[in-house]
Amino acid sequence: MKKFAIAVDGPAGAGKSTISKLVAQKLGIEYIDTGAMYRAITLKLINNNVNFGDFDNVKKIVENTKVELVNGRVLLDGDDVSEEIRMPYVSTRVSEVAAMPIVRERLVYLQRLMAENTSVIMDGRDIGTNVLKNAEIKIFLTASVEERANRRYIEMQNKGVDITFEEICEDIRKRDTIDSTREVNPLRQAEDAILVDTTGKSIEEVVDEIISIIKKGVNI
Ligand code: CDP
Repeated sequence: MKKFAIAVDGPAGAGKSTISKLVAQKLGIEYIDTGAMYRAITLKLINNNVNFGDFDNVKKIVENTKVELVNGRVLLDGDDVSEEIRMPYVSTRVSEVAAMPIVRERLVYLQRLMAENTSVIMDGRDIGTNVLKNAEIKIFLTASVEERANRRYIEMQNKGVDITFEEICEDIRKRDTIDSTREVNPLRQAEDAILVDTTGKSIEEVVDEIISIIKKGVNI
């Protein structure tokens, strides 16, 4: 089988990570969650009390931080931070961090390295438009804001996190705005991406839809 890449982009809570993980399992390829990498850097900046406007300090931290994705876990300088990076105090700040060119430069470099020698499905905001511009398959996954917020609300409730539906809606709207209006590689659908609207669809339905798109485009 020839090496291939699948890029999945879309707004917050569209189901990118759930779907991409399942597609990766079905196809036996690597799943790379780039959002987790931005979240890990954000967590480190918060834990170190770094002022996000302090360019020199941000740069120093970014250059001296190790972010790894190992067996579905997220390691920050060797520590497993998989749960912590999903907490609202990280979610509400991650888009500010992800808008910084110095952060993007470093993480995009690492993401391209991860996809260099192996078939991957990579999800994020700028994968089809920038990180893996030559990906064989590009998907733009979306859903209504209400449905996206509702999914995230259920996820947070299941984890016992104290947050209201309104707070989640606000976070999602705010992040979508920052992500799609930032100067460096904003969130947008690549011209050659296929739009998949997941509103009202089950996870299985979306996975099947995406697998059939992939099968049409790649010889697997
Ligand atoms: O899972 P959710 O949709 O909430 O977000 P995520 O994929 O974990 O990404 C968190 C944040 O990281 C996004 O809101 C973006 O600000 C940023 N991000 C980015 O800028 N570029 C990427 N390739 C991936 C994430």
